[in-house]
Amino acid sequence: MKLAVLASGNGSNFEAIVQAVEAGQIPAEIVLLFADHHDAYVMERAKKHRIPCASFELKEFENKQAYEKALLELLAEHQVELIILAGYMRIIGPGLLEAYPNRIVNIHPALLPSFPGLHGIRDAFEAKVSETGVTVHYIDSGVDTGPIIAQEAVAVDPADTLEQLEEKIHQVEHQLYPRVIAEIVKEIQA
Ligand code: GRF
Repeated sequence: MKLAVLASGNGSNFEAIVQAVEAGQIPAEIVLLFADHHDAYVMERAKKHRIPCASFELKEFENKQAYEKALLELLAEHQVELIILAGYMRIIGPGLLEAYPNRIVNIHPALLPSFPGLHGIRDAFEAKVSETGVTVHYIDSGVDTGPIIAQEAVAVDPADTLEQLEEKIHQVEHQLYPRVIAEIVKEIQA
C-alpha cells in the first residue's frame, strides 16, 4: 500500500509514522511527503529518512483549484492509495475528496466534535475541561467533521500549563496515529 503524508510544519507525527513503517508496524510504504511550504521542517525529516518529498505553495498558483490539481497529479504520479494528513493546515478541496473517497485520514488534537479548528489544544485548555484528547478521522468537506475512526482521552491536570498539555497530547498522537494507520492499511488490504 502506497501512502502519502501531507504536512505543513514540524512533522513530529510524520516522524512517528515513518518510524512505525521502518519498524514494520505499518505494512505500507511512504512514497511521498508533500509540504505546502518549502521551508517546512518536515521536509528535513523526509530527506533524513530518504523519503521522496515535494513542496509547492498556494501562492505559486492562480487559485486553490490549480494548486489542488497539481497536488492530485503529484499523488497520481506516485500511485498514492491512501493520504495521511499530519499537521496539514489546509482544507481539502472537492477534487481531492472525489479522487480519494474514504482514503484521506486526519489527526486532530482534541476530542471531536469538541474543539474543532486550528487551536484544538489551546481552546480545550482555555475552556478548563478536565479531559481532552486526540481524534483520528476521515476527511469530508467540513472542518474536522468527517467520520471518527479512533479517539484517545487525555486528562487535564489543573496544574498543567498549556505547554505541558501540548506535550501530553503530542505524546498520545505519536502512539495513536501510527497504530490506527496500521489498522486502516490492514483493513483496506483484507
Ligand atoms: C498535531 O497536533 C496534529 O494533531 C495537528 O497538527 C499538529 C501537527 O504537529 N493536526 P506535527 O507537525 O506533526 O509535529
